[in-house]
Amino acid sequence: MHLEHLRLRDFRNYQLLDADFTPGFHLLLGPNAQGKTNVLEAIHLLANLRSFRGVGSSAMVQHEKSGWFVGGKVVGTGSHEVKMYWSPKERQLSLNGQTVQKLSDYLGTLRTVAFTSEDLALVKGVGRGRRRYMDFLLVQTVPTYLSLLQRYTRALKNRNALLKKKPIDKNALDSFTMELVKIGNEIISYRAELIPQISPNVTEAHRRIAPAGEDLNVEYIPSVKSDFFDELSRTQDRELKLGSTTIGPHRDELALMLDDKPAADFASEGQKRAVAIALKIAQAEHLTNFHGSPPVLLIDDVMGELDIERRKGFLPLMESCSEGRGQIFMTCTEENWPSELSSSMHRWDVINGTINLTS
Ligand SMILES: Nc1ncnc2c1ncn2[C@@H]1O[C@H](COP(=O)(O)OP(=O)(O)OP(=O)(O)O)[C@@H](O)[C@H]1O
Ligand SMILES: [Mg+2]
Repeated sequence: MHLEHLRLRDFRNYQLLDADFTPGFHLLLGPNAQGKTNVLEAIHLLANLRSFRGVGSSAMVQHEKSGWFVGGKVVGTGSHEVKMYWSPKERQLSLNGQTVQKLSDYLGTLRTVAFTSEDLALVKGVGRGRRRYMDFLLVQTVPTYLSLLQRYTRALKNRNALLKKKPIDKNALDSFTMELVKIGNEIISYRAELIPQISPNVTEAHRRIAPAGEDLNVEYIPSVKSDFFDELSRTQDRELKLGSTTIGPHRDELALMLDDKPAADFASEGQKRAVAIALKIAQAEHLTNFHGSPPVLLIDDVMGELDIERRKGFLPLMESCSEGRGQIFMTCTEENWPSELSSSMHRWDVINGTINLTS
């Protein structure tokens, strides 16, 4: 799969961009603050309908403008035209000229895995980021998963609202509890199935980029230990006191253990970075195995964080993603990539909201 055309209008520092991309390896080169990351952000937005910077849509509107447009042509099995428009008053998403009714029908049109400095939050940040990591993979591989997540979030919100309301409406609470348990158990079983599948990829990828020899292991730690319904019943007094649901997949964790110790507590900055990158490599490999073709890789300045030896650990994934009809976009401020891949590389100069192919 690859992105054949990208069009931006009033998106961050791009007033208007129209660019054609072949499959293969694209290097976006330029000094700081020229718009390299903004291009990756736009491609990620087309694929996942959200920014990897964790900001809302309004932040991406060019200053003083009323809305942004991001569109493109994706070539995978068939060719698809995608258009997104956002303004405070209006949102549009269309696929091949038709308004998208259900997000699950759209997601998968373009698949990307992004490597950005923000990935460090997977190791250092709160559990939400790690749950998102699992959910990202499940949304891309289980057609019903997005709707499960949406239904779970709704049931949780309604249940929490009831827990705060006095006197308690026992019947309504029971009915949301049933809903939460039913959907929650499905989410738990998907996550429990996923992690052992990706765990060897994570360990292996980490070995390649952290040659010092520590072992990285990931383990799914569900908040529910044996029976969701029983555990909820047992904590009801506490729930009523707190006015919120304290057990369930919204409290799950993904343990990241470096030589059997939690990476967040004991790893150095460089080690944490290697853990985050290994998690992302495993994500890309899992999607490649599952779909039989690689996602588009978006690599934002990550190379600068790795020494030459560690960069080599990235090569197998990069080779598999830039071969055939795959595609990689990588940003850097100066060209510092091993020569092995240079021959088939397309270089773009990024200057003040414009990009130009140089070779
Ligand atoms: N909403 C916006 N409207 C206009 N300009 C914006 C908007 N958001 C960000 N910018 C500008 O876009 C410019 C380029 O940002 P970007 O993050 O893509 O730079 P970069 O080339 O990746 O730089 P670096 O090498 O420092 O990472 C910045 O100068 C930033 O101020
Ligand atoms: Mg940048």
